[in-house]
Amino acid sequence: MARRFLAAFSALLLTQVAADNFPFTGYRTAPYLPPQIKITKSGKTDPGYLFIGPRGNQAHGTAALIYDEDGNLVYEGPEEVTANFRVQKLYNEDVITFWAGDMMELGFGYGTVHILDNTYREIYTVTLPDNFVSPDGLPRDSYIDLHESHITERNTLLVTAYNITQHDLTAIGGNPDDYMLDGMFFEIDIATNEIVYQWSALDHIGSIPIEASKQGLGAEYGTQEKPWDAYHINSVELMDDGYIISLRHYWSGFYIHNNGTVMWRLSGEPNVGDFEIDDGAVFSWQHDIRVYHQTEEGLLVSLFNNANTPTDTVDATTGLSLNVDLVNRKVSTLRRLKDSQDVIHSVSQGSYQLLSEESSHVVLGYGSIARLKEFDANNNEVMTAQFGDDNAVASYRGFKCQWKATPFWQPAVAIIRTASDSATMFMSWNGATEYDNWAVYSASAADGEPTFVTSVKREGFETKVHLTGMRTNWLQVVARRGNIPLGTSAMAYY
Ligand SMILES: *[C@@H]1O[C@H](CO)[C@@H](O)[C@H](O)[C@H]1NC(C)=O
Ligand SMILES: *[C@@H]1O[C@H](CO)[C@@H](O)[C@H](O)[C@H]1NC(C)=O
Repeated sequence: MARRFLAAFSALLLTQVAADNFPFTGYRTAPYLPPQIKITKSGKTDPGYLFIGPRGNQAHGTAALIYDEDGNLVYEGPEEVTANFRVQKLYNEDVITFWAGDMMELGFGYGTVHILDNTYREIYTVTLPDNFVSPDGLPRDSYIDLHESHITERNTLLVTAYNITQHDLTAIGGNPDDYMLDGMFFEIDIATNEIVYQWSALDHIGSIPIEASKQGLGAEYGTQEKPWDAYHINSVELMDDGYIISLRHYWSGFYIHNNGTVMWRLSGEPNVGDFEIDDGAVFSWQHDIRVYHQTEEGLLVSLFNNANTPTDTVDATTGLSLNVDLVNRKVSTLRRLKDSQDVIHSVSQGSYQLLSEESSHVVLGYGSIARLKEFDANNNEVMTAQFGDDNAVASYRGFKCQWKATPFWQPAVAIIRTASDSATMFMSWNGATEYDNWAVYSASAADGEPTFVTSVKREGFETKVHLTGMRTNWLQVVARRGNIPLGTSAMAYY
């Protein structure tokens, strides 16, 4: 019982590890202190930036973060708890999307999904101001859960939501008037914020019986403050005539028809569900079920196989790619991704991202373990990025994305005078990906005519230049790509 009781916390809570000593990097031009990401490469990687949203027992860097593969910070967003920070396509344009809000100790959250264009302007804010019940009974502005924020090809957003409902739990050892969490998903039109579809697991209790949940009730659960988390829905994607969802607490993906009917269950447990699975396809406590290449006969499925909770160790965590044969109802393993030099047991969260069909590279975000790994087409690890101490810092998911952005804000400068006619100047442009050098200008007044002084190559997030023989008190910098100006700082006095 004790084991199962603890398992109820499994979803998001990090095990209590003392405040970490992980190194952070500070800057002169910005108040950021992001974790010093440590990147090791053992092979050729695909292009892209690393997108993470760290949080946990750390003093700094709880924000949406982008790094390049040399470990340089590229972007730090506002200080807030985020999830699913990544690039997606909306109306055929690249946009940045992320969830931000409050994470509950129970393993879900209440928040909103932010959509930014390639200047970091917020173009859409998606909310779910519906009629939900929370553990403390207090209303929230928006009830979108942290687990999913997936843009569809029809420019809608798929999100998950957790609702507290009173339900008879005598079948699993509880009371007739106990409380549990319903697992819901919503499809929301991004342009209008209107709900176009909604589905509730509790409405389909005949097909997904609560007795089949792997999550034990435990002595302390069953109240409104601590409802039983029967399903733990953690991903939704369009599939065929409906949706495929991942229910972590059933070790399964379910195909939900548009009319609400549960069409089939793909279970990671042998002899459960509607498919016969091979030995490699065994999975448990999974996240992030994705589908590719759907036909009448079959499809491919990928997922992050945690195989662990804080209290239940089943196996090493792996990334799985499976072939689902709908005709013969058989599942065979295509890929089983694991770094044999660095075997990970991720007790919660995590993601599987196929970078491209051409390269077949995959990035796994290890959730409760503060690491991302890239694997090549031969399933070999080619890159590991560590951004915090294990089990002390998590990123719900972790991605590698190609991204081009020119921020709407100005570049920032900081100047330290080193002598009457010399200074050290620092410059940065948070989020800018396109500039490769800085041009420095001086002027004799704030509104004076700027005179070119020098240019200097971009060095990561913040570039430094020493200026000597200066005869004026005003400086300005221009971020450039070659000779093309992309952004100009304010005139700075020193
Ligand atoms: C949440 O549960 C409450 C209590 O059962 C119910 O009244 C409410 O309609 C539910 N909300 C949604 C969005 O289903
Ligand atoms: C939903 O559609 C499927 C596929 O056509 C069908 O098998 C199922 O019976 C339908 N369910 C309802 C409730 O109409």
